[in-house]
Amino acid sequence: MTTESRAGQPKPRVAVLFGGRSSEHAVSCVTAAGVLSAIDKDKYDVIPIGIAKTGQWVLASGDTNEWSLSASSLPEVAPSTQTVALAEIGGEHQLIVASPNQVPQELGTVDVVFPLLHGPFGEDGTIQGLLELSDTRYVGAGVLASAVGMDKHFMKVIFESAGLHVGPYIAVTDRQWLGDAETVRKRVDQLGFPVFVKPARAGSSMGISKVDSLEGLDAAIEAAREHDPKLVIEAGITGREIECAVLEGRGTDAPRSSMPGEISVAGGGHEFYDFNAKYVDDAAALSCPADLPEEAIARVRELAAVAFDAVGAEGLSRVDFFYTPEGELIINEINTMPGFTPKSMYPQMWKASGLEYAELIDELIHLALHRKMGLR
Ligand SMILES: Nc1ncnc2c1ncn2[C@@H]1O[C@H](COP(=O)(O)OP(=O)(O)O)[C@@H](O)[C@H]1O
Ligand SMILES: [Mg+2]
Repeated sequence: MTTESRAGQPKPRVAVLFGGRSSEHAVSCVTAAGVLSAIDKDKYDVIPIGIAKTGQWVLASGDTNEWSLSASSLPEVAPSTQTVALAEIGGEHQLIVASPNQVPQELGTVDVVFPLLHGPFGEDGTIQGLLELSDTRYVGAGVLASAVGMDKHFMKVIFESAGLHVGPYIAVTDRQWLGDAETVRKRVDQLGFPVFVKPARAGSSMGISKVDSLEGLDAAIEAAREHDPKLVIEAGITGREIECAVLEGRGTDAPRSSMPGEISVAGGGHEFYDFNAKYVDDAAALSCPADLPEEAIARVRELAAVAFDAVGAEGLSRVDFFYTPEGELIINEINTMPGFTPKSMYPQMWKASGLEYAELIDELIHLALHRKMGLR
């Protein structure tokens, strides 16, 4: 099944995995459109695999128009009667296609999987676990780093222990809220308003509200609980939103960090970088490199690499900070599968640092192809 590259060598086969079960399904399809257009097809044999919202894997179209954002509709992977699965056959990782009442058909070996999935069941260690179990190489963070990067509570615990500055927050479990809501309200009051109420494991600002007083708290908590029974409630921080892209180093080299970028939300009645500002109104301006003093730029780049190593990330991560008027850098979060369309912040920050989108994709595949299997 393997075809040959320009140099006459067998081309590595890359399965691009996108869509998925989370609320960020459409965003993932748009990312796939970007990656499928830019990936070097002379160098890699590319197999697009979509994951429907039901969780079913299907052979997807390589036609990038199908996955692009159009004015009329959001792209979506449709379920099919034909299912794709990864299986180990004769010691090789094979993709097989199974249809009802038919003998499964082999699609050939897979050298590396590129998961372009955001949110739970994609960015949280679950897909990564499946790939580890089948000894399949993949791009990006492993099981633990993915799980920690998805959980806004545990990432803070790890960041604090690595000496990074985390803003005041509390974590609220289902048991605490349902068992003793009054104590939760008191703890929030001690944080001081405004607060940001967030599902612990969501993304794209879904379920997040800014709350200015105790009166609005219960409704915000219930809105966040629609996404996740576990919440994080944070004191509001005044500061500019500064992000930094980190790319794993080759071999024993340290992680590489890009020039930092800045997000500013302009008008449109957005009080913060919410879902509509991100995807609907296009109200966010990304500027890269961020206009910061030299010394602050160096500090952002260093702290981003510290955060990457603190959670044990691999491949890529975007690390987001607040830069306060006093010049402090407070870490907000790490994203182990950040937005990755050509227009997204992560590729834009690398572009501003001298690495183009297609080269970035190539480097990520290179890192994944050269990584050790099993515990590392
Ligand atoms: N503690 C905070 N103080 C001020 N603004 C915040 C705070 N937490 C979140 N925000 C705002 O909400 C946005 C989304 O929050 P974030 O934690 O980054 O969630 P997501 O994982 O969905 O991106 C941030 O980009 C920022 O604009
Ligand atoms: Mg964010």
